[in-house]
Amino acid sequence: MTKTRPLLLNAFEMAGVGYYAQGCWSHPESMRIRYKDLSYWTERASMLDAAGFHSLFFADVLGVYDVYRNSPDPAIAGAVDFPLNDPVIVIAAMLGASQNLSFAVTASTTYEQPFPFARRFATLDHLSKGRIAWNVVTSYLPNAARNYGLKDQMPHAERYERAEEFLEVVYKLLEGSWEDDAVLYDKVAKVYADPAKVHRIDHAGKYFSVQGPSITEPSIQRTPVIFQAGASARGIEFAARHAEVVFVNGMNPEGLRANVDRLRDAAEKIGRGRYDIKVVTDLSAVIGASQAEAEQKADAVRAAQSPEAQYAAFGGASGYDLSKYHDDDTLTSEPAKNFSRSEGARFTSEKKRPDSVGEIKKRLINLSPYASTMVGTPAHIADEMERIAAITDIDGFTLHEFVTPHDFETFVAEVMPILEQRGLFEPARKPMSFRQRLFDKGDRLPETHPAAAFRRHG
Ligand SMILES: Cc1cc2nc3c(=O)[nH]c(=O)nc-3n(C[C@H](O)[C@H](O)[C@H](O)COP(=O)(O)O)c2cc1C
Repeated sequence: MTKTRPLLLNAFEMAGVGYYAQGCWSHPESMRIRYKDLSYWTERASMLDAAGFHSLFFADVLGVYDVYRNSPDPAIAGAVDFPLNDPVIVIAAMLGASQNLSFAVTASTTYEQPFPFARRFATLDHLSKGRIAWNVVTSYLPNAARNYGLKDQMPHAERYERAEEFLEVVYKLLEGSWEDDAVLYDKVAKVYADPAKVHRIDHAGKYFSVQGPSITEPSIQRTPVIFQAGASARGIEFAARHAEVVFVNGMNPEGLRANVDRLRDAAEKIGRGRYDIKVVTDLSAVIGASQAEAEQKADAVRAAQSPEAQYAAFGGASGYDLSKYHDDDTLTSEPAKNFSRSEGARFTSEKKRPDSVGEIKKRLINLSPYASTMVGTPAHIADEMERIAAITDIDGFTLHEFVTPHDFETFVAEVMPILEQRGLFEPARKPMSFRQRLFDKGDRLPETHPAAAFRRHG
């Protein structure tokens, strides 16, 4: 086991009532119904900020889950990532209630346009003084495609091809179109910016045509910190090239370690450092004063979980409609082609011994199917986090909630002091850009990153 570095702590959110462990909004103590209140979000921001959490991440989707039972009804009834507000607007409100907490927001390269995207994120970066990250996703819901004028989802490979070009345009706009000394702010000469130092980008590609220049002036980080979660071979290649923080999961610590190594190897192979990428893995914790109390709380979470809603969530992400299978069937890798590759692969015949549908269903509704789930006392949770981090070479965790806001509040009050005491956590206390906080090498992307090629010097 290697010595554990101080951990990056990232909290998981969505701007809706139901998400993640589906059905938990129905837990008697859940306050997720407050997601429409401004005060709910500002309270969250200030609580996490005061605790010294490093970042808050917002997942996002652009449609309803309608694969399961070939219908949106289970997702609508069970509030499966639905209804869902716009996370960018929620974050804009949270910035004012926080000083050191950074925010990562999901935006889709399949459905966004790079020009307005770059403007929105540069604005957030300005207003937050560099506390913004972008989770680059290629999206997976068929309904999202139909909401954005397509008949069906673009093939998986093409989504990544479009994502590559999307990033190139963003780099050209945010890194390349304004030179560092373009802004003069000369009141005497009445010259705000030097036109000779603000450039069109004249991008003409397969998917995008953008003349530029960027309509926003450079923000502290210029390009926001880039998050990614690619898990397919193509997704890992993409993450290795572009990402600075990557969500990586595994069925067990050994599997996670293999996935982490694969990503770090891929980054190194293309000239980036092994540790130019921070790897975070999903974590959910049910915390009790004793093991027995934690188990009791876990039972209450299980009672709140909704099988129908969870199967609907799995269907939308993986492409598998579990209603079409018997419990002793196994899933084939076929239907998942156009969906999130990893979601299906986790459970399909790509594994040595594929799980039966009955086993998959059981796993889906037993607390979290996605994250390392820990049930126990605060000391047990801290021990487990330390153990997993040491085995897997990860840099941190993305903490999920079953019961809002109870789970985050309990983690902050009970587990974080132990982590800090053990030197496993350094709270975010001083204002700085997110990139500086992550890597301690300045606010801008390093020269080894592909975005650097689009910079203009004089
Ligand atoms: C922690 C985590 C958060 C994710 N958040 C989103 C999200 O908000 N929106 C989305 O469309 N996909 C999300 N994904 C899915 C990934 O973007 C990606 O599509 C998935 O991991 C499959 O990888 P692949 O694209 O290489 O097949 C998330 C994945 C993980 C592990």
